Amino acid sequence: MPPQITVLDAGGQYCHLIARRVRNLGVYAEVAPSETPASQLAGRKGIIISGGPASVRAPGSPTVDPAIFDSGTPVLGICYGHQLMAWLLRGNVQKGDHGEYGFALLDLSHRSRLLKGVDGPQQVWMSHFDTVAEPPEGFETLGTTETCTVAAMADEARKLYGVQFHPEVAHTPCGQTILSNFLFDICGCEHDWDPAGQIVQLENHIREVAGNRNIFFFVSGGVDSTVAYTLCLRALGPDRVHGTYVDTGLMRDGETELVRTNFPSLHIEDDSARFLGALAGVTDPEKKRHIIGHQFVEVQQRILESEHYLDGHWILGQGTIYPDTIESGGTAKADLIKTHHNRVAGIQKLIEQGRIIEPLSSFYKDEVRAVGRELGLPDALIERHPFPGPGLAIRCLCSTESVAPEASHEVSKGGWILPVRSVGVQGDERTYRRVLALDKFPAEDEAARLINRIATVNRIVVSVWTARPVEELLAAPASLTAERIERLRRADAIVRRLAHDFDQTIWQFPVVLIPFGTEEKPDAVVLRPIDSVDGMTARAVRMPEDLLQKIVCELQTVEGIAGVFYDLTNKPPATIEWE
Ligand code: XMP
Repeated sequence: MPPQITVLDAGGQYCHLIARRVRNLGVYAEVAPSETPASQLAGRKGIIISGGPASVRAPGSPTVDPAIFDSGTPVLGICYGHQLMAWLLRGNVQKGDHGEYGFALLDLSHRSRLLKGVDGPQQVWMSHFDTVAEPPEGFETLGTTETCTVAAMADEARKLYGVQFHPEVAHTPCGQTILSNFLFDICGCEHDWDPAGQIVQLENHIREVAGNRNIFFFVSGGVDSTVAYTLCLRALGPDRVHGTYVDTGLMRDGETELVRTNFPSLHIEDDSARFLGALAGVTDPEKKRHIIGHQFVEVQQRILESEHYLDGHWILGQGTIYPDTIESGGTAKADLIKTHHNRVAGIQKLIEQGRIIEPLSSFYKDEVRAVGRELGLPDALIERHPFPGPGLAIRCLCSTESVAPEASHEVSKGGWILPVRSVGVQGDERTYRRVLALDKFPAEDEAARLINRIATVNRIVVSVWTARPVEELLAAPASLTAERIERLRRADAIVRRLAHDFDQTIWQFPVVLIPFGTEEKPDAVVLRPIDSVDGMTARAVRMPEDLLQKIVCELQTVEGIAGVFYDLTNKPPATIEWE
């Protein structure tokens, strides 16, 4: 389906969010590299240039084909896109004295089709350093903020528009109106996109690609592969679609049963003994990942060969979704995930032969959920948070030594450096550092300030409950054992049950086990609820106090648990998972 709108990706973290917002307004949009030649954009009803971290003044920064501004197609530049439009059309872009991050008040000085229905001073979300000091010839300034003389501009005759703020984020309340004005009033787009209404086309597409061949799937139990598998089942029937689910023994409580109940025809391969055996005694986080990846390769290869799926009668179905297919969109992790699950030698061979079907490759996660809902899949499957392929193993931390916590000199009272290390991402580099534990929730932003000050830590947690004072707990040698995985599984199940409603309001909520406790109760639980758009960056979220108390109360009943901590760290500097 040809897109009505193309979002040119200048490297902004919100690029996909723009395309999603456009689609949510019922208009099919796709993302393309910023340098896409104007000739390839012919036929679009409109073009949006995304934000990005670079400065238009820096050599080699992302640019667009300037011919798009003369093509008659309406163009909206957002943030970096706004500056780039000004720069390429010979306006004046200045290096900002200091950036403008967060809320700003937009004062409107001029009417425009773009701002129809937007009146008075408006709260908008800004995140930029450079500013447009003077718009190019032919443009009017539409509005200003305290630090931004050209916060919005328009050349109505040429249908060129720029906004320094981000209309695509929820923090810009008038953003939907602005995008809708651009799509419908300025570009003349039609409603052509309703993901849930695509099911018939998707099924026809599957039948067309498959021809007289059958499809096999490795179903993970996650939303994407489940929806893709269901579509294929509907298109070709259970005789022609084989699905296998590999039980690694590292799944959450009830996971395998849920998959079994929902898909009675799915083949369930119990490989838990194999996975747990290979992980016995391992403590290093990267080694854990490596072993699990290797086990997946072996299991998948064995199934592929034993079932003769490699002959010409079969194609492979995969649950790949849109951000995974776009170079700059998928997270670096997406590549890693594929190495683990979707790129074993046999599968690689099928990919090279073009024997792959990925029915959801132009869908975003929320659209996949809409399709799943329409297909009648249960909410328990559809609404679930992303869950990492290596499962509970990366949330069960290990230790080789016996160490006590130290009082932190940086926190006047009630701060300890815990002898547990976890993975972080600081200045784009992986770090593996200790954790600062506070005895009470700090004032807002204090956690971020403390991390920046204390070089030896990359995470801050609050000690919510401990069986004994924190200074009397110890980190003791611990590896990945069936007993510890089961302990984590029970703790996770409690949190999942009690936080069911809260889960709907956030992006992901890992529950982590750390080897920090007493002799009789050797582990503690860390709660890690976060909000995110794509997992690349994340914000720690505080849960309601009464819910926290309920969770802590029940976690105290789990055998072997000596404490509950609450992770307050954003990503960066910490990763979402602890590893
Ligand atoms: P981090 O911990 O890097 O995680 O901040 C970002 C997001 O990626 C998920 N994740 C994975 N998903 N296989 C997956 O399918 C993996 O190996 C993997 N590692 C991390 C993580 O849960 C979070 O949503």
